[in-house]
Amino acid sequence: MHRTLGWIRGGRPVVHSLFHELVHMSSEEEKRAQSGRLKAFRLREVDRTVQVLVTGGAGFVGSNVVDALVARDDDVLVLDDLSTGDAANLEPSGVELVVADIGDREATINALRGRRFEAVVHLASKTKVVQSLEQPDLYRRVIVGGTANVLEAAALAGTARFVNFSSGGVIYGETLGACAHELMPIAPVSPYGACKALAETEVERLGMSALTLRPANIYGPRQRTDLEGGVVAIFQRGWRSGSSLNVRGDGSMQRDYVYVGDVADAVIASLGSDRTGVYNIGTGVATSVLELIEAMATILGPAEVTHVPEIPGELRRNCLDVSKAARDALWRPRTSLAEGLRLTLS
Ligand SMILES: NC(=O)c1ccc[n+]([C@@H]2O[C@H](COP(=O)([O-])OP(=O)(O)OC[C@H]3O[C@@H](n4cnc5c(N)ncnc54)[C@H](O)[C@@H]3O)[C@@H](O)[C@H]2O)c1
Repeated sequence: MHRTLGWIRGGRPVVHSLFHELVHMSSEEEKRAQSGRLKAFRLREVDRTVQVLVTGGAGFVGSNVVDALVARDDDVLVLDDLSTGDAANLEPSGVELVVADIGDREATINALRGRRFEAVVHLASKTKVVQSLEQPDLYRRVIVGGTANVLEAAALAGTARFVNFSSGGVIYGETLGACAHELMPIAPVSPYGACKALAETEVERLGMSALTLRPANIYGPRQRTDLEGGVVAIFQRGWRSGSSLNVRGDGSMQRDYVYVGDVADAVIASLGSDRTGVYNIGTGVATSVLELIEAMATILGPAEVTHVPEIPGELRRNCLDVSKAARDALWRPRTSLAEGLRLTLS
């Protein structure tokens, strides 16, 4: 019994208090009930090593999620086609990588044949708004078809829990005024957003326990600087090379920037929960591009800014209301922009 006293959750020695209750119970019936609770608690604690498939795990967000899973001793397998991901992102964790295109049903099923996963975290996706306008069929094939293929492979592999990555940044459209909450009607303005919405429906039709995360603009270590969207990484490259930072329009466009470590926390929380449906993952704070540069400048020093034309159709403001995740005791953001930038840039 002594060993169990070391199991501490949220800073409280939970088992100790359960044990304390158990030995001080008066009726036999109550003792049996407490003993059942203690056993269930032990199983949950001991059984943390689950086998998790992470699709898109070689990418920016995926590899940070993999690190968080490995840090708690989970046994992880990554499936990725390395189209925008990099196998080097998996070197710190040393997890196994299977290279396959989720848009190809046969390749996906074959790559995972004979495997069993208790859980799947599905991040593999195309992620660029402008590219989706140019190649909508590719987006439909990978995001809608690919999600259906991963769901089928997951069902074959005996998966009990599915965590899907949608995008709060592209699914709600313009969020002028209040931040978008999950009950708001969605209004994607790009094939990327529309495909993410269709993929959410694929997940909802599933017979297994599933939850969809709708993250805001994610930033943090390993974000690529050569892709649309990673504005913190793109500006960081500008700072490093001493070049002027290109700011579209007057720099008043606002986004909700969430630190990748907080997103990884949301995945861990989702795997350990039986909640279903959709959850926004952001900060509830809208930051303009000029405010972001100002915050980065406090760490990196002053930079020169060049104003360039806006991309037609680009959203003016995107911000997510994250109160549902907090209310349901699933997750809440814990890293401020200042702290997240310090972790990313230093
Ligand atoms: N980065 C953000 O700000 C952000 C915001 C909201 C949602 N998301 C979502 O998070 C997830 C990860 O995004 P990211 O920013 O890490 O992008 P990323 O490009 O770094 O990661 C995507 C990964 O999926 C892989 N992939 C792409 N097509 C594939 C295919 N056909 N088969 C197998 N693997 C494939 C890529 O190689 C890459 O490793 C995506 O689902 C994205 O929509 C990202």
